[in-house]
Amino acid sequence: MTNCVAEIDLRGRTGTADDEVMDLAETLRPGQSLRLVSLQLPRLLLHRLHERLPGHLYVGLLETAADRVRLHLERRAPGAPASSRDFLSWDHRRLERLLTEATDEVKQGLEHARARFEELSCALDRHVATEELLLFPMLSPSAEADGLSSEHAWLAAQRRRLRGTLDGGDALRFAREGSALAGALAAHHHREERSLYGVADSTLDEAARERMLVDLQTL
Ligand SMILES: [Fe+2]
Ligand SMILES: [Fe+2]
Repeated sequence: MTNCVAEIDLRGRTGTADDEVMDLAETLRPGQSLRLVSLQLPRLLLHRLHERLPGHLYVGLLETAADRVRLHLERRAPGAPASSRDFLSWDHRRLERLLTEATDEVKQGLEHARARFEELSCALDRHVATEELLLFPMLSPSAEADGLSSEHAWLAAQRRRLRGTLDGGDALRFAREGSALAGALAAHHHREERSLYGVADSTLDEAARERMLVDLQTL
């Protein structure tokens, strides 16, 4: 990702590494990002970052493996105040970009596409899990929540199919089916931004809204 200024591996580092991350995060310009690698989700560090830079930083997951978690931290562009809707919409654009990169990079080889596809899979699983855990209960029971939940199951099935295409080594089919999935994903995102995210921001008081925004990025 072109705007990434550094990747910091926190594994095996002492507590001062957290201060280094905090100082670096403070220097990021809007749109710039940094990557963090740690043994597990660095929740304490993320809470400290949100306290020091409230509403200025968005955090997205890129990888979870037995020996590491990789995170993408991005300085928000100035504009509307941070909110659950704004954060989740930002995450939608990130997911869409990862899928587009996977289908574009397959031209350079299947392994290039696989790296982006794995990041997309991890990021999408995380995004969907937080929506189902934190947001859908606010809508439920409703047809809208049921419909969006069914779409999650359908998107997961399509993604498994796409992984099969990648594993089978069919680059052309991967590019074609990846583009079809990108269209379905964007349509799902559009529905959520139109009907779901406003609920989270409008039914909570200010303190609960702030808590939700942090929970979505640290749970
Ligand atoms: Fe969703
Ligand atoms: Fe979403």
